[in-house]
Amino acid sequence: MRIILAPMEGLADVHLRRLITAQGGFDWTVSEFVRVVDRLYPDRVFYGMCPELKNGGRTDSGTPVRVQLLGSDADAMAANAVRTVELGSHGVDINFGCPSKTVNRRNGGAIMLQEPESLYRVVSAVRAALPANVVVSAKMRLGFDDTSLMLENAAAIEAAGATELTVHARTRRQGYAPPAHWHELARIRQHIHIPLIANGDICSVEDYHRCVAAAGTVDVMLGRGAVRVPSLARQIRNNCQEESPWASIEPLLGDFWRQLSAVMSTRDRIGRIRQWVNYLRQRHPEAEVLWQVIRQEVDLQRLNALF
Ligand SMILES: Cc1cc2nc3c(=O)[nH]c(=O)nc-3n(C[C@H](O)[C@H](O)[C@H](O)COP(=O)(O)O)c2cc1C
Repeated sequence: MRIILAPMEGLADVHLRRLITAQGGFDWTVSEFVRVVDRLYPDRVFYGMCPELKNGGRTDSGTPVRVQLLGSDADAMAANAVRTVELGSHGVDINFGCPSKTVNRRNGGAIMLQEPESLYRVVSAVRAALPANVVVSAKMRLGFDDTSLMLENAAAIEAAGATELTVHARTRRQGYAPPAHWHELARIRQHIHIPLIANGDICSVEDYHRCVAAAGTVDVMLGRGAVRVPSLARQIRNNCQEESPWASIEPLLGDFWRQLSAVMSTRDRIGRIRQWVNYLRQRHPEAEVLWQVIRQEVDLQRLNALF
């Protein structure tokens, strides 16, 4: 069983990655995506997206971080992949799932699922540019509008030399709307030989077991579920749902709040704590109470007293 903390742009940044991976149970995590256009970025771009590179490519609790790249220019992707590994990334992940219109308009992310050859081109260029012992993984959705190219896409990624494949069990058209279609992953599982990592809507120990049964793989990537329940990976690993996890979450909010004060404006900091509490309230009644207090609060002293 391998459990990975998902890349989540604007949500699972270095601060949240630090706090969530410290809860235990994760094998590695993936950075927010670096959008590659047509050239090699200066190092500060990689350090900005993945500050853990200055820490041996690990979160403070020692979880390895893999930088994610997004783009369709194979040469530029390869050049940036090489640099990111030189800087300390634990492998490279390639994003073929981003649904953003801006990104898709520039031929990056999920739009590439309409053309399996483009996936092959990018993955094989990155693979060829890196030493054989460096992991090259890819993350895709079931398809763009539908699943008609799903197996071809997965096969193209495997044939190009990817080491493993994560699949978010929805098409781009399905966005983030429940349910995730885990049973489709079983078809991919039968079609490829590299490890398959299931992703989408795994929010509890019970979900994990249902996903494993439907998808036929024990490896999973946790996204929003781990933002709502930071100890989720540990719970899955111990096969034991924790009864009242709020007691262990509250101190994390204080930690998060104080940590952000050093690195961002008050306005942004308030935005970030609200964002997390907004996720937490979907699972914890205590967070709902907190949400009602902070949703319009802008007074720093009062917020400092709360966190
Ligand atoms: C706010 C947000 C940002 C995301 N950013 C990325 C990203 O940068 N790269 C990526 O591959 N997937 C990204 N995703 C997709 C997640 O990694 C994951 O595939 C998706 O949320 C489904 O998993 P979940 O139901 O466990 O959250 C993002 C999702 C969310 C909600």
